[in-house]
Amino acid sequence: MSRSTTLAATPLSRLLGCRAPLILAGMGGVARSELVAAVSGYGGFGFLGMVREPLALLEREVARVRALTDAPFGVNLIPAGTPRALLRSQVDACIALGVPAVELFWDVDEGVVARLRAAGITVLYQVGSARDALHAQAAGAHAVIAQGVEAGGHVWGRQPLEALLDEVLGCVSVPVAAAGGLADGRSVGRVLARGAQAVVLGTALIATDESFAHDVHKRILVAGKADATLLTEDFHVNWPPHAAVRVLPNAVTRGERGDPYTSAPQVIGEEEGRPVYLFSTDSPLRSMTGDLEAMALYAGRGVDAVDAIEPAAQRLARIEREAAAHLRLVADAPEPLASPVCYAGQAREAERAPLIAQLVALLADERALARVLAETRAQVLDAPLRTFADVALAAQTRGCGTLVRALRALDAAPDPATGEPYAQAMALRDPRERLALAARWRGAWQARWQALEAALDDAQARDDWQQAVRAHEAVLQEWRWVGPV
Ligand SMILES: Cc1cc2nc3c(=O)[nH]c(=O)nc-3n(C[C@H](O)[C@H](O)[C@H](O)COP(=O)(O)O)c2cc1C
Repeated sequence: MSRSTTLAATPLSRLLGCRAPLILAGMGGVARSELVAAVSGYGGFGFLGMVREPLALLEREVARVRALTDAPFGVNLIPAGTPRALLRSQVDACIALGVPAVELFWDVDEGVVARLRAAGITVLYQVGSARDALHAQAAGAHAVIAQGVEAGGHVWGRQPLEALLDEVLGCVSVPVAAAGGLADGRSVGRVLARGAQAVVLGTALIATDESFAHDVHKRILVAGKADATLLTEDFHVNWPPHAAVRVLPNAVTRGERGDPYTSAPQVIGEEEGRPVYLFSTDSPLRSMTGDLEAMALYAGRGVDAVDAIEPAAQRLARIEREAAAHLRLVADAPEPLASPVCYAGQAREAERAPLIAQLVALLADERALARVLAETRAQVLDAPLRTFADVALAAQTRGCGTLVRALRALDAAPDPATGEPYAQAMALRDPRERLALAARWRGAWQARWQALEAALDDAQARDDWQQAVRAHEAVLQEWRWVGPV
């Protein structure tokens, strides 16, 4: 492949040992050995979707990938959706089999991260908020995946991908990948340009020859439209309660099959002798028979780009080629295209370097404070104080996102460094004392924000900035009771 049609390697793609920063989402049921080998063989990185799968299947699928390709791949597990004993044995199996990487999702399970990490396995955690990204990083994840609300399947957070990505990039120092609604080269190029070190593709790779989805599901995706997709809790059997999934509509979501929470259990299909229940999280697979259209028809908002069932490598090559072209366009573009929220164009070149330096320094400090709040929150047992720490953390992560956007508008990449205040605050053992110190910093740093506001001459950028400052002010008002400010 010529250089112009491929994407550049990133620290995350190097960590995973693949050529291109294109990751197959570890979709339960759908991402089996054939698809994983196709994606990893192409030069991306495939995760086997092994949520709740018995050990024999996990071992068989790992062996099959290895028979099909020498390329590296990983396994996806969901601690919160798996009985503890099975989860323990799945983790044991990944370690015993020497699986190089494991992707986890939903609540951050610190114990599972620690075990995998200690065994030398690369751990990626898919998260739906900057708060969970901080938690995953503190637990030891090597990288996080920011999942936007546009995603197909189970959706953990409620933020649109690009806003979430900015917050996560502003808060953590580990590499960040992006997931949710990414199915064409343009959207992939956009998030890579925004700082993601890889993209995670789910829906885009369901309608491929190699995926284990049933043809019924693949054909429905080809016909499906993004605006028809919906978030619902109707498909809940097998999962923790109140978990939303993004699907295309069917008889269940239209309410034609009864109340998902009060109806008697009803078998609507089977998979090699296993019953498939109405309202369960099962999606139609090659191995299933029954009322397939009443199962969960998972689809992300990128579904409009899925217009045929084709080999995975063909789809990946197109996405990669178009994404590379988009990135070239962004790099070559005059400033207004490169910087949609732009005050770079207006800032004189002489002012740019010191402005970037101040923003980078402020972001390092604000990132430090975000880490302090996230880690201290986990240590306070006092419920009102904990609620307060949550509110403060939400304002904090939002502010970090604003700083990332300000840097991007100046064509500067956010530096992942964490400032000195982190170590200083964490040296205090008492969480209350630590919060009081954090409050003093917050108060002092407001002046830095106000001074920098003068450099913004774009209305949208200033509005974003002012909202962040107001959120910090509101927190500061409440913070007074935590200790001397
Ligand atoms: C059919 C399907 C099954 C999924 N199963 C899982 C899973 O088992 N584990 C997991 O971490 N994520 C799962 N996801 C979510 C993906 O990890 C990812 O966030 C999502 O596919 C990205 O959005 P997209 O589908 O718009 O590309 C699933 C998604 C789909 C579409």
